Amino acid sequence: MPHTIQYPIWDVPIIGGGMVIAIIAIVHVTFAHFTVGAGLFTAWAEWKANRKGDTLMLKFLKDFSRYIILLPFIFGALTGVGIWFSIALVSPDATSALIHQYVWGWATEWVFFIVEIISGYIYYYTWGKLTPGRHNVIGWIYAFAAYMSLVIINGILTFMLSPGGWVVNQEFWTGFFNPTYWPSLLLRTISAMSLAGIFIAVAANTLYDYTREERHHIITEGGKFLIPLILMIPASIWFLANIPEASARMVKGGAIAMTLFFMFGLAASTLVGLYAYFGLILKRRYINLETALLLGAIAFIATGAMEFVREGVRKPYVIYDYMYSNGILVKDADRLNQEGVLTFAPWTVARLGANSPDQLTHEQLGQAVYAAQCSRCHTIDGVNGIKPLIWGWPEDSIKHNLDTLHTEQPYMPPFIGTSAEKQALADYLKGLQDQYESAKANSTRESTRS
Ligand code: HEC
Repeated sequence: MPHTIQYPIWDVPIIGGGMVIAIIAIVHVTFAHFTVGAGLFTAWAEWKANRKGDTLMLKFLKDFSRYIILLPFIFGALTGVGIWFSIALVSPDATSALIHQYVWGWATEWVFFIVEIISGYIYYYTWGKLTPGRHNVIGWIYAFAAYMSLVIINGILTFMLSPGGWVVNQEFWTGFFNPTYWPSLLLRTISAMSLAGIFIAVAANTLYDYTREERHHIITEGGKFLIPLILMIPASIWFLANIPEASARMVKGGAIAMTLFFMFGLAASTLVGLYAYFGLILKRRYINLETALLLGAIAFIATGAMEFVREGVRKPYVIYDYMYSNGILVKDADRLNQEGVLTFAPWTVARLGANSPDQLTHEQLGQAVYAAQCSRCHTIDGVNGIKPLIWGWPEDSIKHNLDTLHTEQPYMPPFIGTSAEKQALADYLKGLQDQYESAKANSTRESTRS
């Protein structure tokens, strides 16, 4: 696989590049999943309404199909481009690796995206103009195209976490249908259906020209799409059984943040599913707008939590066993330990006004090594800030930490580089710490003074 390693990265202060990606991605995933679920709901509900002569549902679907064309277009497309923009700047090496491997996957996805948009428009504008059967066929084309984009992107996303045999043979399909492909597709399908079900409850509540009984009927039909949430726990167990062993250890308590987010995500999803089954279906309760919005917020948090876990347990890799999160290829590590890590990231040297690492001062060397290796995941002072993390550490501990980065924190790759680079980095970190402590001391002095 051709691969260049010389892209500079976007250093985002305070929140860090990873957080920029995460914020865009969680909004994107929520809307994209919703779109997929809404497509399935529309096609299925129209089919059923045609058979039963349910004119109310047909009227609702006609009103609802406006969202179907607007939401994927506005939020899906906008945030989708946002993801490309942010990953290419924050993680250029990984983006390049993914494009080199899956360019045809993405090309196919974009074809389906175009089919989705076009059929969405046709669907919206041909209500009452086509026979009910034909109109429903357009609905199924829309649903199929939307679902296919999930089918494809799911292959690429799961590939990053569990490339399996791809690491050895680098074949498209081995990486695509990797060990977590099917459990993840099931999880995402469940999530897509439930987001659509919740959104239908929200939408139904905003239709003021419908009677309460009419809205109730629609909400109950939409609620059926929430029931698969009950499968969230078994589906997650299936997923966990197929992720790499070290990732599974993180979920099972090795990294407590991962364990907690995973449990919260699961508990929230399952509770919504139980509510839908017992409340909506068995007891035929009505969901009002506030409750529907609350369910939507819970689903959004659950989606975010699960995506956070998927990204978190993949660390220290961006493509498991192949590329570390800082863009360094696993197979290059030995060579860079000999040659120095800055040959991997010449931009860190250029940025300091030098042509080669030996023109840097000791302090600049440390700064460049930090930029090359640590700055993808750490900011200086903000999210996962390095200064607060090493606050109060004696000098030996900082050095020791660099020797054991990967064994003490399951999130981190090992330190890569020569011993001179390691020493320079340790001294640079010590320098940051001194700044931090003198700043603290100053602010304490200020506050005692006032
Ligand atoms: C793949 C992302 C990633 C990279 C790359 C990375 N770190 Fe970390 N690091 C983390 C995470 C996540 C934590 C855990 C923070 C926490 O527990 O709050 C962490 C924790 C730490 C800690 C605190 C450790 C402890 O035991 O409390 C130090 C020090 C640290 N990193 C230094 C570094 C240095 C120096 C580099 C570069 C050589 C680096 N990290 C590269 C993600 C990363």
